[in-house]
Amino acid sequence: MFIAGILGTRATTMLDLLFLAQFVIVPTMIYGISRAKKQSYADHKKIMLILVAALLVVVTCFEVHIQVYGWKQHAEASPFFSEPVYQSGVGITLLVHLAFAVSTAFLWIAVVIAALRKFSKPPFPGAHSKWHRRWAKIAAVDMLATAITGCLFYYVAFWAT
Ligand code: HEM
Repeated sequence: MFIAGILGTRATTMLDLLFLAQFVIVPTMIYGISRAKKQSYADHKKIMLILVAALLVVVTCFEVHIQVYGWKQHAEASPFFSEPVYQSGVGITLLVHLAFAVSTAFLWIAVVIAALRKFSKPPFPGAHSKWHRRWAKIAAVDMLATAITGCLFYYVAFWAT
């Protein structure tokens, strides 16, 4: 099931789906933030919580897939792959991506938990607004960087010939 991908690169179907997921996640995040800018805070809350739930599923699928099937065997034919892996283009791109991914996970958890605890129900601007606007913007930029470096990793590891 996971051997041949759907995009015709060296990646597995699961990695293809994760790559494609970035193109849904980022626009959804931008739309969710635009709802807050238009003062539709309940919409904003709903969209961001759905996004967080979807991200949990995506990250879990990715982790299980990598642990069970590995990824290196699919990247060996890349011109950016060499041993030791983490000194090659593929490995360095993965490390940069992971740095953004891990910090994004912590930031998103912190922003969501603080928002759920400190904003009123239904949500409206208040004492927590200043903190939320600052850290939520950093969390959103971090998510964007995670998606960009994730796509870059997909390209250098599984696509480049
Ligand atoms: C990680 C998830 C989230 C991100 C990335 C995020 C992002 C943002 C951003 C960037 C803004 C500022 C919009 C602007 O420039 O006007 C904002 C505003 C706001 N968000 Fe979130 N948000 C998240 C989750 C939540 C949740 C779960 C709630 C409610 C429980 C919430 C409630 C609000 C409210 C009430 C505002 C308006 C604050 C104000 O302008 O005074 N957010 N959010």
